[in-house]
Amino acid sequence: MKSIGVLGGTGPAGMALGKRFAKIGHRVVLGSRDPQRAIEKASEACTEYEELKDLIIGGSNEEAANCDIVVVATPWEGAESTVRGLKSALDGKIVISMVNALLKVGPSLHPYLPPRGSVTAQIQAALPQSKVVGAFHHAPAKELGEIRDDLDCDIMVVADNKDAREEVVALVDQIPGARAIDAGTNVSAGAIESMTAVLININIKYKTRSSIRLSGLEK
Ligand SMILES: NC(=O)c1ccc[n+]([C@@H]2O[C@H](COP(=O)([O-])OP(=O)(O)OC[C@H]3O[C@@H](n4cnc5c(N)ncnc54)[C@H](OP(=O)(O)O)[C@@H]3O)[C@@H](O)[C@H]2O)c1
Repeated sequence: MKSIGVLGGTGPAGMALGKRFAKIGHRVVLGSRDPQRAIEKASEACTEYEELKDLIIGGSNEEAANCDIVVVATPWEGAESTVRGLKSALDGKIVISMVNALLKVGPSLHPYLPPRGSVTAQIQAALPQSKVVGAFHHAPAKELGEIRDDLDCDIMVVADNKDAREEVVALVDQIPGARAIDAGTNVSAGAIESMTAVLININIKYKTRSSIRLSGLEK
């Protein structure tokens, strides 16, 4: 059992992932810039799912950053500044980024590639002593948050640090219905993050919440 903190854990994505991790037995701290908001969200999660009681709490982003593993679940505009402010707490740790950089252009969403090619790489550059791993970019918050149902998607995991990547692959594989795919180094992160814009545009057209399943893998 690990402690897992979620920066921006009051949003739909971070809260849903926090609930998933708590459901499989990890202790989760939903973090926020306003700890009271996170406390309310954690209480909401425990009211909805009694089994999460004692496993999920709310607090500040600083408290979340003190956990063993830390997830970044803020909008991309705030991700780098958020982690920079928590750098010393994050040094040496696995930091999972689920952040997608997207821009609304007219009715559709376009991927935005930050200067280093991905948000994952931006965060890794901001946290040179941390092991930054990209994962969960394509998992829709609604399905992630419905924790009594198995997920039905692949989760592509990237990181420059091989050990951290393998640890997150093992963590993802604990989630029923999720299949972790080791997708290599951060070189692939930009393509994975950008693919989210494709999925969201598909979702708008087909009024659904699509995700990704790869064929041809034996795992
Ligand atoms: N929604 C999905 O289905 C989904 C799926 C996979 C990945 N993602 C990615 O996960 C991330 C979070 O998605 P979301 O839909 O949960 O986002 P969100 O609701 O817009 O934001 C999540 C939380 O981040 C905090 N926040 C907002 N602006 C911030 C800023 N400028 N600096 C620091 N913190 C800020 C807020 O918490 P406080 O105000 O409480 O601090 C907010 O509740 C995004 O990068 C998204 O691309 C989303």
